Amino acid sequence: MTSNTVDSASTRNQADSHGGSSMVSVRSLGKNYGSLRAVDDVSFEVARGEIFGFLGPNGAGKTTCLEMMEGLRKPDAGTITISGIPVWPDPAKVKRLIGVQTQSTAFYEELTVQEVLRLFGALHGRRLSKRVLEDLLDLSGLAEKRKAYTLALSGGQKQRLAIAIALVNEPELVFLDEPTTGLDPQARRRTWEVVKELRDRGKTIILTSHYMEEAEYLCDRLAIIDYGKIIAMDTPVRLVGQLGRKARINFTASRPIEGVSLGLAGSDVGAPNSEGEQTLLAENLDDAIAVLLRTANDEDIEIKNLQVRTANLEDVFLTLTGKELRD
Ligand SMILES: Nc1ncnc2c1ncn2[C@@H]1O[C@H](COP(=O)(O)OP(=O)(O)OP(=O)(O)O)[C@@H](O)[C@H]1O
Ligand SMILES: [Mg+2]
Repeated sequence: MTSNTVDSASTRNQADSHGGSSMVSVRSLGKNYGSLRAVDDVSFEVARGEIFGFLGPNGAGKTTCLEMMEGLRKPDAGTITISGIPVWPDPAKVKRLIGVQTQSTAFYEELTVQEVLRLFGALHGRRLSKRVLEDLLDLSGLAEKRKAYTLALSGGQKQRLAIAIALVNEPELVFLDEPTTGLDPQARRRTWEVVKELRDRGKTIILTSHYMEEAEYLCDRLAIIDYGKIIAMDTPVRLVGQLGRKARINFTASRPIEGVSLGLAGSDVGAPNSEGEQTLLAENLDDAIAVLLRTANDEDIEIKNLQVRTANLEDVFLTLTGKELRD
């Protein structure tokens, strides 16, 4: 206990001497696999207490980025500091500050939930007190499963156990690599609440996802990554706001409606797609719908299947890359 206190104090001093209050600072990070540039000149800062997300499609470089920050994979270029301490060349120096949930976790199947947590505690040189163990079980919603073999856990429970394991050393910074991939919506939401609770406890969280609702709901800030590069980075609200288009209106008309006839500044109506559906991207939803319906009425056009949804991160990704960000 005493040595821990001394350690955290010296860690803080080291952070202060580096001048920044950032939890993580990444500069010009790069990683090649042969001729593939998996991570390309990536720079960002994560503030203490923030939930920072990497959103991007399969193969974008999210896991590679995380692994370099976690000290598991050596960068080819750039620097990473955590709480002011360089991760490389000696990742052992930051090990105490971080908790890691990897993208796929293999458990010891013949151990129970609480045995696994104690084991991982021991691997960190800690004997988990009853209080810490109970807290981890409560936080991860696994209190009732404490004596269940890990083999018998559901997908969502396994993912939450993986998060609990990442917390056994009471880290300041937690890495979660796709914490909800493959889970049904209910299990996903349960995990979201665990992540929010961690943030409320003052932890800094870096996570990856390819679910835009997840990134939108959880992240204070996020980096959209594609082909190893950060192509946009901001709060979800500002990223969507930068589109300058608030809403997307989809409809089918008995005759195609022409953009000109709508006469709306800042709105565009696309040509019908193969199913005859047209899309109107509108800056002002109320005006756009009013004009659309009036035009249809004046020109004797029937409008069916009118659907409205506000612009979201999917639209941001589509606008930036010209492709859909798929699950
Ligand atoms: N050990 C490796 N050797 C060679 N290439 C690799 C290795 N690990 C990853 N890659 C390649 O590097 C690129 C980035 O992979 P990475 O796992 O970082 O992507 P990701 O964004 O985490 O994808 P996913 O969403 O599928 O988890 C991919 O093209 C991948 O095929
Ligand atoms: Mg990955």
